[in-house]
Amino acid sequence: MSTFQAPKGTYDLLPPESAAFLAVRDALAAPLRTSGYGYIETPGFENVELFARGVGESTDIVTKEMYAFETKGGDRIALRPEGTAGTLRATLEANLHRQGNLPVKLWYSGSYYRYEAPQKGRYRHFSQIGAEAIGTEDPALDAELILLADRAYRSLGLRGFRILLNSLGDQECRPLYREALQTFLRGLDLDEETLRRAEINPLRVLDDKRADVRRQLTGAPLLQDYLCAACKTYHEEVRALLTAEDVAFEDDPKLVRGLDYYTRTTFEFVHDGLGAQSAVGGGGRYDGLSEMIGGPSLPSVGWALGVDRTVLALEAEGITLDLPPATSVFAVPLGDEARRVLFTKVNELRRAGVAADFSYGGKGLKGAMKNAHRSGARYALVAGERDLVEGVVQLKDMESGEQTAVALDRITAEVTSRL
Ligand code: HAM
Repeated sequence: MSTFQAPKGTYDLLPPESAAFLAVRDALAAPLRTSGYGYIETPGFENVELFARGVGESTDIVTKEMYAFETKGGDRIALRPEGTAGTLRATLEANLHRQGNLPVKLWYSGSYYRYEAPQKGRYRHFSQIGAEAIGTEDPALDAELILLADRAYRSLGLRGFRILLNSLGDQECRPLYREALQTFLRGLDLDEETLRRAEINPLRVLDDKRADVRRQLTGAPLLQDYLCAACKTYHEEVRALLTAEDVAFEDDPKLVRGLDYYTRTTFEFVHDGLGAQSAVGGGGRYDGLSEMIGGPSLPSVGWALGVDRTVLALEAEGITLDLPPATSVFAVPLGDEARRVLFTKVNELRRAGVAADFSYGGKGLKGAMKNAHRSGARYALVAGERDLVEGVVQLKDMESGEQTAVALDRITAEVTSRL
């Protein structure tokens, strides 16, 4: 062990488990790639103001959880805590929204950083797959995104998740609700900090997990009773489209997300096998974000799915992904001449698409066969001097132990026909 360890709240992804992580990432992104979403990559850090203005000055993410610092050049930078603000910033900067094809549909995959109190499922460095559809107000777009996430989770075999759905209203109806909620909260027996939060961001108080606060919140006014006609119609249409596609969801009038940019549709995918950190993904509409960061009006909707938590959800459901073997054939050369010949054969197999590895370091038969077993390969290719004189190698089935002599120029054909 070295003097150093992975920083608190982080972990290393190592083989063989890392293969499942990669497969989850691919599966979560797969439905997007065939639904018109183009891949975008933005920097891992941005101007800190982008998040302060975008995610919101009163959110925990901005006030407590950002890795923010000043560079030697005097720039105020933050490691990205999420992907939406950066994606929209990049879209505006490149004028993607002016190229006549709205919505601009983008997907991304990457690392995000939040200085949170670490616990199972909550890390300071984590991975998301995200999707954003920028510049169009259409309930079918909201429904499309929810459908694609549902399909992604299902493609992995997950069944124990639920979709929570809510509408947070718009700039017309939300202020009225905000006022009603504030009046209600002012009448409760709350501590100083919660009262302060009620003044800055009263909706966040609805998300308080403490039992004594929750008890007092029964009877709080609900946003759904304050939605304006346009928001109500919009929300009903999203619900109807999901129902028509047989996607089960639960109306959750108290669903509040931890980011301030949301308007209208908001949703969360929660998994019941994960304990406190149950949200495997979440998102919603953010019609005002572009203006908040200096752009034109661009109503948009998106989501991000947590890769780490999706892996935990698979574990919770006891699902093992059916992954292709890391190594199908392991070559065991005995002697220098065999090393040269088998090295060529391994490269030939790889070119033919067979996952193949090689015993390096001039090991003897016993040590090399141990490596072959550890690699999980289905077949070993063993060759010694006598085999080469006869122009063959021994193809050993690692499961049955059965061994067959195969002519050197027939190896790739024989292996591919067997696999
Ligand atoms: P979010 O709900 O903050 O939304 O994060 C999305 C997902 O990322 C969560 O549901 C969770 O699975 C995962 N996640 C978040 N924080 C952590 C953490 N500390 N450790 C492990 N996993 C975590 C957003 O980030 C929005 N940008 C989503 C969005 C896109 N809204 C519109 N477009």
